[in-house]
Amino acid sequence: MITQQDMDKMIRGWIQEAAEAIKQSFSTELIIAEKSDRNDLVTNMDKATEIFFIEKIRHYFPEDRILGEEGNGDSIEDLAGRVWIIDPIDGTLNFVKQQADFAIMIGFYQDGVGKMGYIYDVMADEFYWGIKGEGAFLNGERLPKVKDISLREGLIALSSGMIGSSKYSSREMVIASSGVRMLGSAGVETARVVMGRMAAYITHRLQPWDIAAGKVIAEEVGLMYTQLNGEPIDLLTKSATLVATPSAHQEIVTIYLKNQK
Ligand code: IPD
Ligand code: CA
Ligand code: CA
Repeated sequence: MITQQDMDKMIRGWIQEAAEAIKQSFSTELIIAEKSDRNDLVTNMDKATEIFFIEKIRHYFPEDRILGEEGNGDSIEDLAGRVWIIDPIDGTLNFVKQQADFAIMIGFYQDGVGKMGYIYDVMADEFYWGIKGEGAFLNGERLPKVKDISLREGLIALSSGMIGSSKYSSREMVIASSGVRMLGSAGVETARVVMGRMAAYITHRLQPWDIAAGKVIAEEVGLMYTQLNGEPIDLLTKSATLVATPSAHQEIVTIYLKNQK
C-alpha cells in the first residue's frame, strides 16, 4: 500500500528528474510546433515530459485517470475517483524564447477535491507543493499563511489576454493596485501570490492543467482561487480565473462584475 507520504516523495522525485532532462535539452535543438496559433507552442520536451509522468503514474497507480495538456492521458469528462492533472511545461513560450520562467505542474485530485499540488519553477529552483490539510511548502520549508493585503497594497499579475480586451476591466484593476507584472506562466505567477509577493494573479482564460496544482497550494496558504466572477472553479473546462488574498479577491470580483452587462 502506497501512503500519501510515499506518493508525495515519489512525485517530487519524478518532477526533479523531469526538470533535469528539460535543462539538458537546452544543449540540443528543440522541435517546436504551433498549436492553436503562433504563440501557442508545443515542443518535443513538453510531449516527452508528459509521457514520462504518465508512464510513472500508470506503473505505480494503474487504476488512476490522467488529464494531460498534450493529450497523452485519458479523456476526462468527470472528476470521479483519483485523477492526475498534468501541465508538463507551463510557460512554453518562455521556455522557448527565454529558457526561464517556466514550471512543471502536477495536481492530484480525489472525487474533485485537490489533495496534492506541485509547481516547480525549474530555472529559479523554487519547488512549491501543497498537501490538503497539511500546508504548503517551498523547497521543504513550510510557507506561512499569506497576509491579507488589499488590492491597493499589492502588485497584481495579469495574463496578456487581460489587456487585449476591454471586457475584463483590467485597466480599472491595475489602477486600483500598486502595479502590474506579467510573467507568462500560470505556475510562476500563482507561486508569486502564494509567497505573498503579489496580491493577485488574474487571467482571461486558464485550462484545468494551468489551475489544478496551484489551487491546492494557494488554498493551503489562505488564498482564494475562483473564476473571475467569483464562482467556484470547474476543472473540466477553461475559465477566466482569479487567485488572490481574500481582500483583493473581493475587490477584483466587484470591479469585474460591476462592468458586466
Ligand atoms: C500558458 C501560460 C500562460 C497563460 C496561458 C497558458 P502553457 O500555459 O500559463 O501564462 O496565460 O493561458 O496556456 O500553454 O505555456 O502551458
Ligand atoms: Ca500551462
Ligand atoms: Ca504546458
